[in-house]
Amino acid sequence: MIGEPEAVAPGAPGATAGRPLVVRSRGELAAVLARAPRPLGLVPTMGWLHAGHRSLIARARAESATVAVSIFVNPRQFGSPTDLDRYPRNEARDLAICAEEGVDLVWAPGVDDVYPAGFDTAVRVGAVGRPLEGAARPGHFEGVATVVAILLGLVRPERAYFGMKDAQQLRVIARMATDLALATVVPCPTVREPDGLAMSSRNVHLSPTERAAAAVLHRALQAGRARRDAGELDAEAIRAAVRAALAAEPLADVEYVSLADDASLAELERVDGPALLSLAVRFGSTRLIDNVTL
Ligand code: PAJ
Repeated sequence: MIGEPEAVAPGAPGATAGRPLVVRSRGELAAVLARAPRPLGLVPTMGWLHAGHRSLIARARAESATVAVSIFVNPRQFGSPTDLDRYPRNEARDLAICAEEGVDLVWAPGVDDVYPAGFDTAVRVGAVGRPLEGAARPGHFEGVATVVAILLGLVRPERAYFGMKDAQQLRVIARMATDLALATVVPCPTVREPDGLAMSSRNVHLSPTERAAAAVLHRALQAGRARRDAGELDAEAIRAAVRAALAAEPLADVEYVSLADDASLAELERVDGPALLSLAVRFGSTRLIDNVTL
């Protein structure tokens, strides 16, 4: 632990947790890291923390001497300024959650701390970043890979924790971290609401009716999984089962339903090995993604 002990009553929530040290500049970060016990686990986030982030932090806490969380809404991974502007932010609440989860260090840099004047480099991602989200959001994974390379390069964690909720992002980052020898990437399972909706910062934008309708995503993925479990090997039949379940929800505007090889993310004809069933669906102006492995 590198934070000061927090003054809270024994037994109160967070009573055993320290208050995390909050740093912003690269210089402050380097000074704190120089005396941080190892191994160090990093959980990169864009803030607006929820139970999904908490599960990554808990996993890092369980296997690290120092847990660091980065909070940075990365402009380079957003397709439009509107999308960036409407991304939810609440640092005070995020810091309270980090304290509850026993985080030692929070790095919350400004845009200029991450991308100093003159910054002029990008990480070009390979084949695994091209289909699905890569096709739907041009430049998105280049922005993600670039910022994660900077975060991992500056923090130099032994391990970095990422959610399976963003299945393709996880694969892009794991490939990059291996290829550029940056850190060990630890995949963490998707945390869901009681009705199956995957936790996401973007869920906050759903109206109450859209929020209720969004539960169809998990039901549709489960319908696909049920077809596979019943012995179906034809990938298109499984995709069709997912689309049929989604069609029952009028508010669901389907962008894609994919059944792809779990490693390469190439679309399958036959399901004869590990596969990723994934989808992107809009509810009003909010675009949600989800997946299950088969
Ligand atoms: P963000 O959306 O804040 O997510 C941070 C991490 O939490 C990611 O690894 C994401 O997959 C994971 N996560 C989100 N929802 C989850 C859920 N319901 N269950 C489990 N894990 C979940 O993803 C990003 O930020 C950014 O792209 C980032 C990697 C930080 C680069 O800017």
